Amino acid sequence: MNVVVTKSYEASCKAAADMIAKAIQANPAAKLGLATGSTPLPIYKELIRMHTQEGLDFSQVRTVNLDEYCGIDASHPQSYRYFMNENLFNHVNIDKKNTYVPSGMGNLEQNAAELEAKVFEGGTPAVQLLGIGSNGHVGFNEAGSRLTAQSHVEPLVETTINDNARFFEKREDVPTQAVSMGMKGILAAQSIVLVATGASKVEAIRGLVQDDCVYPQNPATFLKLHPNATIIIDEELAKQAGYKA
Ligand code: GLP
Repeated sequence: MNVVVTKSYEASCKAAADMIAKAIQANPAAKLGLATGSTPLPIYKELIRMHTQEGLDFSQVRTVNLDEYCGIDASHPQSYRYFMNENLFNHVNIDKKNTYVPSGMGNLEQNAAELEAKVFEGGTPAVQLLGIGSNGHVGFNEAGSRLTAQSHVEPLVETTINDNARFFEKREDVPTQAVSMGMKGILAAQSIVLVATGASKVEAIRGLVQDDCVYPQNPATFLKLHPNATIIIDEELAKQAGYKA
């Protein structure tokens, strides 16, 4: 696992966008594993800028998203399909037929099986983008005594529901389950880039940088097993998490 420390969150996002753009330039039909949450927003803004100003071409790019809430459909502003359309897909020349976000509706076991197939179909992502939950979750693989390998339906824990309540009108509106790629699919990507910033991520990042161990109580620590995973953090977070180069 490679840790990159930048001057600022903005610089972290620029570095992550550059890595994604490089993958597209190396293979115009690259497959990308994408993430939601507030952290990647500037990354998507930068990719849109590269598309409009520098001609970064998404016409053949394929994408698969990590996860989706259960029980809210694509028209719900907090659904991850809506998020991806609004924050990236509608602003670049991607063919939406080449984008996949699980639906989170209907038969959820079928949703999970479909997501698992999409992760591996035509080869695993060249780059898997990740944020991190305050409890170390990646996708919606929650912290706990065990992790699930394959894509599955995951009950969300209290911390996650509380963390995500800010996006919903009422806490009761936050879905309590999600369909998520499992650790196997995430770790199958050819490269992984995780971006984190802010005080709420200090403990999760400490787990990543403090030692060479993996802990299901901090799912992101499993990235230590990946041969090509990069963690991008700003110097403020690096300092607070006790990272020493
Ligand atoms: C959600 C998503 C994760 C994301 C996390 C952190 O739970 N499923 O993929 O990493 O939130 O979100 P934020 O970047 O807003 O802190």
